[in-house]
Amino acid sequence: MNILFIGDIVGSPGRDMLSSYLPRLKDKYRPIITVVNGENAAAGKGITEKIYKEFMNLGVQAITLGNHTWNKKEIIDFIDDANYLIRPANFPENNPGKGIVFVKSNQLEIAIINLQGRTFLDPHDDPFKKADELIRIAKKRTNIIFIDFHAEATSEKQAFGWYVDGRVSAVVGTHTHTQTADERILPEGTAYITDVGMTGPYDGILGVEKESVINRFLSNMPTRFEVDKKGRNQLNGCVISIDQTSGKAIDIKRILINEDHPFYG
Ligand code: FE2
Repeated sequence: MNILFIGDIVGSPGRDMLSSYLPRLKDKYRPIITVVNGENAAAGKGITEKIYKEFMNLGVQAITLGNHTWNKKEIIDFIDDANYLIRPANFPENNPGKGIVFVKSNQLEIAIINLQGRTFLDPHDDPFKKADELIRIAKKRTNIIFIDFHAEATSEKQAFGWYVDGRVSAVVGTHTHTQTADERILPEGTAYITDVGMTGPYDGILGVEKESVINRFLSNMPTRFEVDKKGRNQLNGCVISIDQTSGKAIDIKRILINEDHPFYG
């Protein structure tokens, strides 16, 4: 069975790419579930209830988040009712929302976990220890466990992948918006990629208008970052094949769609 994952959807360009390519990706890969990272979906930072529902209506089964979880204040009012919206599990215990969700499809149950790294990000609880706890909980129900590890440092992501190797089906990295070409199956059967990349503007810088980012580097002055809507768009993701009984990964393929890497259905 396949799980399709689409990396950080940035603003309206990202949402447009998701809606135009999701049917074609589903035709090609026949995933039993599709998971997307939606923490940048609303104007680059956060997610709204309207966008959550839009993604679910498009045929997405779960949406993970990250360091921009709380950027759109309305999320505090709807996250507990949004059954398939997952924020990092290692946020403080009194936070609203949840860090693990179980999705049922084709008689199978899939655990989806979201965790956030701590290197160059806020000092949340230990994601490694939190993973131990959640894997124990998930294993009581299923061997198919999928983790979105939202983190900045490549070393922290690799360390995490090795730490959980053989205990989960897949660890996909998100947050940097830059796809890495290190997808592999680790020796004990966990599919791993350091970063899946982003979905949205292709000609900006990590999704933001390039002029404002260049200006920040040139001037060291505060600049306003806006999602780039002038240029071309891209979609980044991956598809993971998993043995449905053992939960071990069999294959991981990167998905990279842009004008330089056209999609072949
Ligand atoms: Fe992020």
